[in-house]
Parts: sequence; C-alpha cells; structure tokens
Amino acid sequence: MLRRIGVFDSGIGGLTVLRRLREAFPVLDMIYLGDLARVPYGGRSVETITRYAVDDAAFLLRRDVDAVVAACGTVSSNSLDALRERFDVPIYGVIDSAARRAAATKTGAVGVIGTQATVKSGAYERRIHAADPSVRVISRACPLIVPLVENGVGPGDILAETVCGRYLADFREAGIDRLIMGCTHYPLYRTAFERLLPDAEMIDVGEALAADLREIFGEGAGEGRTEFFVTERSAAFDELVRNIDPLVDPESIRVAQIED
Ligand code: DGL
Repeated sequence: MLRRIGVFDSGIGGLTVLRRLREAFPVLDMIYLGDLARVPYGGRSVETITRYAVDDAAFLLRRDVDAVVAACGTVSSNSLDALRERFDVPIYGVIDSAARRAAATKTGAVGVIGTQATVKSGAYERRIHAADPSVRVISRACPLIVPLVENGVGPGDILAETVCGRYLADFREAGIDRLIMGCTHYPLYRTAFERLLPDAEMIDVGEALAADLREIFGEGAGEGRTEFFVTERSAAFDELVRNIDPLVDPESIRVAQIED
C-alpha cells in the first residue's frame, strides 16, 4: 500500500507531474524536490544527469518514501535504469505511459518535444516503436523553453510564442495527431503548442503516468500532505506552487543541501 511518495525534477517542471499525481491520489503524502541550484539538466551529459538524479532520489529516500517518481523527462530517458539498479524501492519515470498513448495515433505520425538529452536518448521513439513499429516519430529538442519557464516567462509572451513557433514550424505539415510534451516543463506552455498545432492532441506525460499509477496502486493511504524542498529559492517556483495549491505558504518551502 502506497502512503508516501517522493517526486523530483531539476526545477519547477515536475510540479506539472505533482499536480496530476495529487489529482489522482488525494490522500497520499508527497515530498517534492526541485533541484533549482543545478537546473537545467537537459543539456548535460548522461553521467552528470545520472549523478544529479542519484542525489535527488537519495535525498527523498532519506525521508522514508515508498516509491520515487522521476518527474523529469531528461532523467526518465537517461538515468532510470541506473536509479533502479542503485535503489531498492519502485522508481517510475514519465516515458512509458506517454509513449503508449502516442502509439495509438490515428494518422500514424506523432511528435515528441523534449530537452536535448531526452531527444538524443531516443527513449520515446524506442517505447513508441515497441508498441507499434510503423509509427512515424518526429522528435525535436527545444532547449530554450526550460530557461524561459524557469524565469517566469509564460505562454502568450512574445518570447515564448516566437521560440515555440520556431521549434514547431514544420510539425503541422508532418500530419501528426499527437504531440508528447516530453519535458515536464512543457505543459506550462500547452496553450502555445495548441495554437500552433490545433488538430493535435497534447500528451501530458504527468497525466498519463498518474492515470497508470492509479490503476496499479488504487488510492493508497496517507493524509494528503505535500512537503516542498528546493536546492535554491526561486520566485517562479513559489508562484507555481501557490498556483497548484493556494493553501501552501511559500515560507513552508524548505531549502535543502542534497549532495553527499
Ligand atoms: N523538466 C525536465 C524534463 O522533463 C528537465 C528540464 C531541464 O532541466 O533541462 O526534462
């Protein structure tokens, strides 16, 4: 029976996953860690991403969690096996559930957007092709989106719209009917993507994962508490936390030292 889970990301993107997990599991206790001192992870080497992910997971496991969610596409696509080898609790990533949804495409073509490390890993393609080898997968790294989000630039801002327009310009002609928002920061730009690809279904990786976990675990137990830790304070993080749960006092977000 799940009671308490740990959820981590390099920054504020994992809050989009936390939000979906909270909707699916109202009574679970959750601990969220945002590694804001070292964000972004997406342009780094696999070795560095894995080292950071091990620090993140170890920090959460010291707080007695029953399972860990890597709420980060970059970690999920590059370091999940390493985490599973090292730690003795169930560890979930965001790739599989989203890939299965994408593989149900009707046009036979899907888009994947993510960080450089995620796209380079080929993890989404591999999982989509494991479900259906005939699907055409068009992948693109969008490295400028994470820094914009972390700096509080929202969709609708000319900077955000220009950057998204540049990245997705040729996706429309490609005939995709599903777009995996393969970095957990990206659901915050969902409206910008929808404006550019009005006929495509947006796949929110956190929503897909939360639905699958709910099927596996049922509602779980706990008191519905959420604790927040960051490795460095950020106004954009505080604001998004308040957005997810207006009852959370940003003062309760604790700054943690996580490296061994
Ligand atoms: N939110 C993360 C992801 O899903 C990480 C972004 C980054 O740190 O570059 O990939």
